[in-house]
Amino acid sequence: MYKLLRALLFRLDAETSHRLTFTALRLLYRLPGVSPTVRAVYARRVPSLPVSVMGLTFSNPVGLAAGLDKNAEHVQSLADFGFGFLELGTVTPRPQPGNPRPRMFRLVAHAALINRMGFNNVGAAKFLVNLAAQGKPCPIGINIGKNRDTPMERAADDYLSVLNAVYRLADYIAINISSPNTAGLRDLQQEQNLEALLSALKTGQAALAEKHGRYVPIALKIAPDLDDTQIAAIARLVQKHRFDAVIATNTTIARPGLEREPLAHQAGGLSGRPLKPLATEIIRKMYAHLQGKVPIIGVGGVETADDAWEKLVAGADLVQVYTALIYQGPHVVSEIARGLAERVRQSGCRSLPEAVQQARKQRG
Ligand SMILES: Cc1cc2nc3c(=O)[nH]c(=O)nc-3n(C[C@H](O)[C@H](O)[C@H](O)COP(=O)(O)O)c2cc1C
Repeated sequence: MYKLLRALLFRLDAETSHRLTFTALRLLYRLPGVSPTVRAVYARRVPSLPVSVMGLTFSNPVGLAAGLDKNAEHVQSLADFGFGFLELGTVTPRPQPGNPRPRMFRLVAHAALINRMGFNNVGAAKFLVNLAAQGKPCPIGINIGKNRDTPMERAADDYLSVLNAVYRLADYIAINISSPNTAGLRDLQQEQNLEALLSALKTGQAALAEKHGRYVPIALKIAPDLDDTQIAAIARLVQKHRFDAVIATNTTIARPGLEREPLAHQAGGLSGRPLKPLATEIIRKMYAHLQGKVPIIGVGGVETADDAWEKLVAGADLVQVYTALIYQGPHVVSEIARGLAERVRQSGCRSLPEAVQQARKQRG
């Protein structure tokens, strides 16, 4: 079914087909019975694979990565696909249009995308109205960023302002300092800048936890284009400032294996299959520093249960998917979860974390 739809959609520009699909889905969801039907087709096929991370319980470890539902408009339908959690956003304090189109490209031969969307979003106020109207069918992460026209030296103000705004409705909050499509953003990953930002966010989180009587964990989303020194510095700082998780990784500015791909020159972040080894390597290195003291959400090129398993064994506690959803359709979620459940069964362990732990030990 999705193959047929994909054949039609892939004739259109990438962003247009994305919009068309989700607008159609939103309209369909106004009809009674659609949500239970989608759930029966997709979510019901997802086995129970509970994982506890950041003090939250996830019914399965396969989440939606940030950027697909930037405005919190499709929460119910995405949950009906069977995701164990959804990361919405990136949302910025004020609305902004993002970069001029075209800004998303399909590299079909490589099951990849290049995007330079530039945080197009409706802004925090409208985002919250959208989210509040939809309820929370599964744990919701909210990914936050800075507006393009906020000067870099005031970046922390933007993060704090959205942190404040979204805190109440979030199960966790992801700090995006790794998008390649907002000038200067990734410089926040440099040690001095990061120290100041993490400290400010931690202070903000403590005040909000007090005010709302609820601790909402914060995760830091990092780029795959980091050298060993930068990885070590980030690992040190997330521990020092007691961050609750690291999300590894965002899209890459590198073009690994794309020498003969005509669209490779397009500016932006590369996601999907070519990102896979790079992202897994960052997870492995980050885990070597963190040793499980700070959990990792692994993302980048996850297409199959084997890919998800590799990320988990490399050090991830949860995984996320974006590009594979575009190429394979919603059934990718249950395929991955079922494959992971099979791994657990074969291992003789009683839970996914136990099976992953056993595999990590065996790999030494
Ligand atoms: C079109 C597009 C838009 C994205 N937008 C965001 C975003 O707004 N915030 C963010 O943190 N990551 C964003 N990402 C990155 C994804 O969340 C994810 O980290 C990356 O695509 C790697 O996962 P994948 O290979 O499964 O796609 C975007 C990715 C794509 C393809």
